[in-house]
Amino acid sequence: MLVLEIEDIREIISKIGYEKFYKKLIKTIEEDYSNWNDFNKCPRVANHVNGGVIELMPINNSKLYSFKYVNGHPKNPEQNKMTVMATGQLSITSTGQPLMFTEMTLLTALRTAANSAMAAKYLAKKDSSVLTFIGTGAQSEFQYLAFSYIFNLKEIRYYDIDSKAMKKFAKNMAQFNIKITPCKNSYDAVERADIITTCTADKRYQTILTKEMIKKDVFINAIGGDCPGKTEIEKELVESSTVVVEYLEQAKIEGDIQQMPTDFTCTQIHEVIRGEKKLNVSTHGTILFDSIGFALEDYSVLRLIYDLAKKSNIGTRMNLIPKLDDVKNLFSLL
Ligand SMILES: NC(=O)c1ccc[n+]([C@@H]2O[C@H](COP(=O)([O-])OP(=O)(O)OC[C@H]3O[C@@H](n4cnc5c(N)ncnc54)[C@H](O)[C@@H]3O)[C@@H](O)[C@H]2O)c1
Repeated sequence: MLVLEIEDIREIISKIGYEKFYKKLIKTIEEDYSNWNDFNKCPRVANHVNGGVIELMPINNSKLYSFKYVNGHPKNPEQNKMTVMATGQLSITSTGQPLMFTEMTLLTALRTAANSAMAAKYLAKKDSSVLTFIGTGAQSEFQYLAFSYIFNLKEIRYYDIDSKAMKKFAKNMAQFNIKITPCKNSYDAVERADIITTCTADKRYQTILTKEMIKKDVFINAIGGDCPGKTEIEKELVESSTVVVEYLEQAKIEGDIQQMPTDFTCTQIHEVIRGEKKLNVSTHGTILFDSIGFALEDYSVLRLIYDLAKKSNIGTRMNLIPKLDDVKNLFSLL
């Protein structure tokens, strides 16, 4: 079984380069969303614990099965631990044979950013040039990079309640050729924005963005409200926007639309990708992508990284699944 560590992911990406990697990943996610009906889907299994959530995210089609283990503990940084950490597995559907086990903390940030940028490619104005971040924690720079390959960005505006997180963001962003503007609050940050990414972490109903703050039509990429009792967008803003989600069944439980009545319906992103619904900020006004992360995006990044690892012979083969001459003689191993 192939095992990939953090160093392996770094090697794969440095070999291919950020731009090519993100573009391949966006294409892979798009391809998988286009084949929506081929997947066996279910909302993730969430164990709500003190201070956070631990989730399992399974999905399969006739070829491959994948799952991710991921947590979300917003207070972890106080103990110098990450809010989100993940591992994942890819298996052959027809036999159940595991193919790969991998780190997925980096892969989650990469796939979330690629997924956000992919949605924005369809839904945001083509000439979007000002991108705002509210929350500059672990996900933020990944998000910037993915967006930078889709849009001709001129300015990044950003705000975080933690000044250390803002300094970290500024330091990491210095390597890219883009104007960055630190803001004194969220109101200031959203000014002139064409795209707003909210990526805050707090296990409560937050109102990071209100209807009153949105002065012109924008694309809102809300990724931080992803758990029951954990939202970022004021109900009135959800109500007044055109809402797009990944998987309605799961978004109703975990997304910002958990604030809406149970019969609330909205567009699912696969309908947009498959051309069944045409939506864009320029014709439909403010669009909210109420993204909570869906297992299909993990499936996409896992199958891509598996192919790239095999091509470059990266990773370690580990003896995790028995190889036996007589498959009924498991006892022979002891
Ligand atoms: N939708 C998805 O697919 C997906 C994937 C990964 C992470 N997430 C979610 O995205 C969020 C961010 O993840 P992360 O790994 O960057 O977490 P993180 O803890 O590293 O960063 C979150 C940042 O939000 C800031 N913050 C909290 N409340 C704020 C407020 N009111 N205003 C401004 N800033 C505020 C914190 O200070 C922190 O710097 C989390 O809620 C996580 O669960 C979603």
